[in-house]
Amino acid sequence: MSTILNRDTGAERIAPASVELKAGVDGISLPDPLGFGNLMAPIMALAYYRDGAWETPRLTALEPLQLAPHAQALHYGQAIFEGMKAYRNLGALFQSPSLLFRPYDHANRFNRSAARLGMPAIDEEVFVATLEQLVAHLDKLVPDRHAQSLYLRPAMFGVTDHLSVTPSTEYCFVVVATPSDAFFTTPIKAWIERRYSRAGAGGTGCVKAAGNYAASFAAAAPLREQGFQQLLWLDANQRTHLEEFTAMNVFVRWEGKLFTPPLSDTILPGITRDSLLQLAGPLGLVMEERPIAVAELLAAIRAGADIELFGCGTGSVIASVEALGDETGMRVNLPPAVVAPTLRKHLLDIHHGLTPAPKGWQWPVGTRKQA
Ligand SMILES: Cc1ncc(COP(=O)(O)O)c(C=O)c1O
Repeated sequence: MSTILNRDTGAERIAPASVELKAGVDGISLPDPLGFGNLMAPIMALAYYRDGAWETPRLTALEPLQLAPHAQALHYGQAIFEGMKAYRNLGALFQSPSLLFRPYDHANRFNRSAARLGMPAIDEEVFVATLEQLVAHLDKLVPDRHAQSLYLRPAMFGVTDHLSVTPSTEYCFVVVATPSDAFFTTPIKAWIERRYSRAGAGGTGCVKAAGNYAASFAAAAPLREQGFQQLLWLDANQRTHLEEFTAMNVFVRWEGKLFTPPLSDTILPGITRDSLLQLAGPLGLVMEERPIAVAELLAAIRAGADIELFGCGTGSVIASVEALGDETGMRVNLPPAVVAPTLRKHLLDIHHGLTPAPKGWQWPVGTRKQA
């Protein structure tokens, strides 16, 4: 067994994920169309936390887990996840077959989610090494086309079988994968949610707690029938300001600038959002974090202002919004996107290693120095 070296110091940190495979990817072909979640990779990474320590993650066949019906996560929702992607390396900047995007930032957010839900941290080196090893084994399932990817879903949940309302003492860490097409490639319709709230002050809105997403399902159901694809959430106190979409941060281009609401404990600090903020200067764009009042935005759109609205996130990368609606029957159409397609292409070119990016954003799979 080889030893993984710390990315910065070169010091020995951890043993890598051991491999215990009963399944392979030979003979599996990618679905056409690829879609999302249509083919689950037959291999997953798995580790348990017991007696105060994580075991070394291992790769194993994708199989149902054994879980007591009174497992803690099922009753009290002690569950978190991340959403990440491995992209086919289509450039000459790196030697590796695929690239992870900002994996240490995802590891760091995973641990912030864990801390908020009273769960144990997982070593960031272990987290990234496990993903690298999984992606290396699943290389055949990393699609070759621009904007397609192997979507990676690390998750952690409490598995202690006890009904007391206390944190679990045992946890499962799992990473599953599915080849994914680009989604929201055509402009979407967003529904301004005025009845339900996504997150309240001091709550879990700024982390990826599983329950945040379950809490959006009832709100999302009726609007789908009306052709809307995403909820656009407002602040829980006043319902006057934009917060974010269900799985994307929001940006508005207005008066020559790009605005996004400032981070708070009710907004998820998106890695794509942060990437856009960091890329603004070099791309010659002025971006500002500032509160965006929904009434002001709608009035400006109705007055014919040159406005563009888009969401950004790992899944969609960037999704332009062509129309807004709400439960009052209000409907407004937005002018065609101007900067969103350029930003989307730039980000995807970074994802695929076609254009350089800040250090640590493009993480080559399978080239880790080993002892
Ligand atoms: C609520 C929410 N906001 C924003 C995002 C975008 O975050 P990221 O860019 O890190 O994928 C996501 C997706 O993870 C999300 O679930």
